[in-house]
Amino acid sequence: MSVREEFDAWAADGRDRGMEARHWHTAKPILARMPVEAGETVLDLGSGSGYAARALRETKEAGRAYGLDGSAEMVRNARSYTDDPDVTFLQGAFGRLPFAADSIDHCFSMEAFYYASDPHRTLRELDRVLRPGGTFFCGVNYYEENVHSHGWASNVGVEMTRWSREEYRDAFRSAGFHVAEQDNVPDEETEIPPSSEFPTDSWATRTAMVERYRVYGTLLTVGVVP
Ligand SMILES: C[S@@+](CC[C@H](N)C(=O)[O-])C[C@H]1O[C@@H](n2cnc3c(N)ncnc32)[C@H](O)[C@@H]1O
Repeated sequence: MSVREEFDAWAADGRDRGMEARHWHTAKPILARMPVEAGETVLDLGSGSGYAARALRETKEAGRAYGLDGSAEMVRNARSYTDDPDVTFLQGAFGRLPFAADSIDHCFSMEAFYYASDPHRTLRELDRVLRPGGTFFCGVNYYEENVHSHGWASNVGVEMTRWSREEYRDAFRSAGFHVAEQDNVPDEETEIPPSSEFPTDSWATRTAMVERYRVYGTLLTVGVVP
């Protein structure tokens, strides 16, 4: 199945909202850290239900927020969740961003970047469309050090790139970014049952579940265009 077909199916049966609820746990603190100033233009790469574009308008007073997603059904759903005329959802691919050079102030992406068929090309595209001083806040839960994520590719059934922390930094630098910071944003909201309830359907031990959510959480890499 292609990435587009996979996420069309997710959107069509309403799984975009469940995904939003889960990702919000770490997306919220990441969005809060973005240095977006009132009136600036922001992009959410792989926007799904579109929560990040809505949040950046509401909490940071972004002047214009774009969400880009390859899934027509995701784009359709995202459009239906807002009537803000300054929020625009576009169907498009990560390999060729439909924006002019230096036209975006800041970009956010959550749990989407590693689906890019050529992630190096996507970074070069972001370097092109972001203005000097612009930032790319890239959050991923699927990455090498998070051993609990390694089985996800076979569950989802589409190709995914599993980089390490260092590979993220190297790739950002190769594409022309400075790496301003990189850290793990813990998920403090996913409920973890008491030890007596383990094993659960998903987790063999409580220690493993704590490690997945509270320790590994979301890997955030922040690139800045020189
Ligand atoms: C796991 S979802 C995450 C959505 C949202 N960012 C969130 O946090 O809930 C990944 C999204 O990226 C989109 N996507 C994946 N690869 C893409 C590509 N190469 N071009 C455009 N969109 C893509 C998918 O259609 C999907 O909506």
